[in-house]
Amino acid sequence: MRQLIAGNWKMHGRLADIAAYAAALRQAPSHVDLLVCPPFPLLDRFAGALNGSPVALGAQDCHPEAQGAHTGDVSAPMLKEAGASYVILGHSERRENHGESNAVVCAKTRAAMAAGLTPIVCVGETAAEREGGVAEQVVRTQLHHSLPADFSGVIAYEPVWAIGTGKTPTEADVAAMHGAIRAALVSQLGAARGGVKILYGGSVKPANAASLLALPEVGGALVGGASLKAEDFLAIAAGAPAV
Ligand code: PGA
Repeated sequence: MRQLIAGNWKMHGRLADIAAYAAALRQAPSHVDLLVCPPFPLLDRFAGALNGSPVALGAQDCHPEAQGAHTGDVSAPMLKEAGASYVILGHSERRENHGESNAVVCAKTRAAMAAGLTPIVCVGETAAEREGGVAEQVVRTQLHHSLPADFSGVIAYEPVWAIGTGKTPTEADVAAMHGAIRAALVSQLGAARGGVKILYGGSVKPANAASLLALPEVGGALVGGASLKAEDFLAIAAGAPAV
């Protein structure tokens, strides 16, 4: 399976940054799929700048409904129209800062699928949960309640304590968790639907990308800080194993 290297710009980036970034991404290695997820106001301009390139565009959240009286929210059909083909859902920063429950993430995932977007559903344990030995159990519960039975999309395993901290789990811990996620997906969704890509996220950078991306059941990366510089993002993509 080709790996997916997804950049999550979070609340970074301005319109003036788009042209040079999109131009640099035209040098992307051809053995991986690249995706950039900028803030909402940059989507339309980004779509124009990426036109004709294989790099895909995504958003960082959507509302569960297609339209309505929801001040400040953006719907999945709006994202699709703006040029997105993916949407990140249930990121730990949304779960924590906006109180998003698994049920809300599930409703958003349904909305994304209905609009023809590919959802990237994020799961991951806190430091206390890992130290308490319940990391796999926490992630299984998140998967169980965040994914609709007909799920199709991508999963991102992002340990909360590894996001933006420079810390990463050991390779053995990443491999064990990705194996546990695969087993949970197959038992929850069935063998066919359970075969979805599982990304690793949390402090991925050029120096650790190749070793993380080579681990069993790692199907790519969700990259925050290091995706802001095209050079670093491309170096991460270059670390993906050849297919
Ligand atoms: P990071 O963020 O790469 O800056 O750790 C990853 C993410 O939150 O998606």
